[in-house]
Amino acid sequence: MISVPVITIDGPASSGKGTVASRVASLLGYHYLDSGALYRLVAFLALRKGMSSEAAGDLGELARTLTVRFELDRIFLEQEDVTLAIRDESVGKMASMISAIPQVRAGLLEKQRNFRKLPGLVCDGRDMGTVVFSDALLKVYLTARQEIRAQRRYKQLMEKEKGGSIENILADIRERDARDTMRAVAPLRQSQDAFFLDTSQLTIDEAVQEVLRRYEVVKPW
Ligand code: DC
Repeated sequence: MISVPVITIDGPASSGKGTVASRVASLLGYHYLDSGALYRLVAFLALRKGMSSEAAGDLGELARTLTVRFELDRIFLEQEDVTLAIRDESVGKMASMISAIPQVRAGLLEKQRNFRKLPGLVCDGRDMGTVVFSDALLKVYLTARQEIRAQRRYKQLMEKEKGGSIENILADIRERDARDTMRAVAPLRQSQDAFFLDTSQLTIDEAVQEVLRRYEVVKPW
């Protein structure tokens, strides 16, 4: 029996992995999972309910019972479109904190695995290749230098007419990297069998082509 093919793209915040992963998915006609969105949804609900980032049991339950709907590029909680709300910096920060809680990670595990459907899945996050889909056909570790990621983030915020100094963005990226790589459970790290892709000098298109080229090499058909 051939299992459903999975391509995992892990990497730090603002590395461009989400854009690369969703383009690869659409070019291959595969499903796409933005696993960070699930952590952001739990964080969003926790903030709304005024929960502490340390209420491990309650946050785990929130993750386990989360009912989310992905429709094209929109994300819904019940009938509420939360696509933009979960991108807020405050939600990202809370997501990074609660994602260190084992009960939250366990609560989201099966939900993530349920996205594995024919003809295939492309997913991005921090532990897609190391934990959630450790048997993936292709694993990519996608990153870029912190200064480059800060510049990209700054540009994005400018386009959305949101403020922020490049120094603050860089400090935020450094803080987030430290939290994501140093946590005890499923920390961000390059899986031994992952292909390392530094996009500091690449365009999105070049990164997409590189992933597709690698996939051509490893896929058995
Ligand atoms: O990719 P992102 O910035 O939307 O993710 C938000 C936070 O969620 C990130 O700081 C770490 C966490 N996360 C995680 O721990 N594991 C994943 N697979 C995806 C995201």
